[in-house]
Amino acid sequence: MPATFLGTPLSLQRARVPSIDGRPDTDALVDRFGRVARDLRVSITEKCSLRCTYCMPAEGLPAIPRRDLLTADEIGRLVGLAWRELGVTEVRFTGGEPLLRNDLAEIFAKSAEAAPGIGIAMTTNGIGLDKRLPSLLEAGLQRVNVSLDTINREHFAALTRRDRLESVFAGIRAAHAAGIAPLKINAVLMRDTLHGAADLLAWAIDNDCRLRFIEQMPLDADALWRRENLVDAQELLDVLGTRFRLTQLVRDDPSSPAEEWQVDDGPHTVGIIASVTRSFCDACDRTRLTAEGTVRSCLFGDDELDLRGILRGGGSDAELAAAWRAAMWNKQAGHGISAEGFVPPARSMGAIGG
Ligand code: 5AD
Ligand code: SF4
Repeated sequence: MPATFLGTPLSLQRARVPSIDGRPDTDALVDRFGRVARDLRVSITEKCSLRCTYCMPAEGLPAIPRRDLLTADEIGRLVGLAWRELGVTEVRFTGGEPLLRNDLAEIFAKSAEAAPGIGIAMTTNGIGLDKRLPSLLEAGLQRVNVSLDTINREHFAALTRRDRLESVFAGIRAAHAAGIAPLKINAVLMRDTLHGAADLLAWAIDNDCRLRFIEQMPLDADALWRRENLVDAQELLDVLGTRFRLTQLVRDDPSSPAEEWQVDDGPHTVGIIASVTRSFCDACDRTRLTAEGTVRSCLFGDDELDLRGILRGGGSDAELAAAWRAAMWNKQAGHGISAEGFVPPARSMGAIGG
């Protein structure tokens, strides 16, 4: 029995669990707008081997003290809980760069053990993937997305502030060799790399990768994002259209944020995630954990709930589940980027995980 004060367990009081007024009695992670979160993103480190300008400051993010990071055991417990009690069906590990956690295989193994049947995926920049992939697959990893914005070495070095394009290619080759096909590639749309977008698509087709472009969101640590500089989906389509014949496909999965186009009558496709101009917030099915163990209900919502405090305060699975549900019930309607007076969140992408 956990310690209580005025009838509420102390661990829950510390976490300041928000009100669940009006919440229906269901296990699932429902919110006030009728959405249900089934897709869990877990950021496991703030560290990264690159410094992409749309994400990180040049000097990197302030280091999270080791004791503040969730351990592999704690991550396994929360993933198991999400799967067993909250209706989560898929977990994706992100960073920073997940490969910079030495205990990554242990994190996957503990998650797979606690949540048998959950899909385990990872978003990575690919650097070092070649060395780690066999043990990660053995530990339960099933899907990999690699982030790659350009195949031009100089542009890559300028955008990521590191000359590591060859290491990314080595990671992608290793993923192919391990039988991960088609491999998904994410590219953030930036003005400096837009003229290379068609080359990137041609390369993706040649290398059996499924490419998806993402509109840049105001989640850069340097807070330089401006709406008027945005490269939007239409501008990309115009650029790609000079080289490829693109035919829009009917969406087979309405909850997927990517719109798909067939390239030159197939079999290859290209996806666009128009996160800013065609917001998909009303179909959002995500719930997020930060590396420090807070629930972040929305990429843009700084009102996080501290699950780590509950966990380390001896909280039960039922308390953890109740707190997680309460956090998600209070999820905001959307990112509000286009609204007047929009203020970007305090956490940048590298500290949330895409
Ligand atoms: N806008 C959109 N996507 C971003 N990512 C990082 N920062 C941003 C941003 N500001 C993407 C990365 C990676 C994933 C983790 O998130 O490219 O694919
Ligand atoms: Fe690192 Fe990914 Fe952020 Fe780039 S987008 S700095 S690879 S965490």
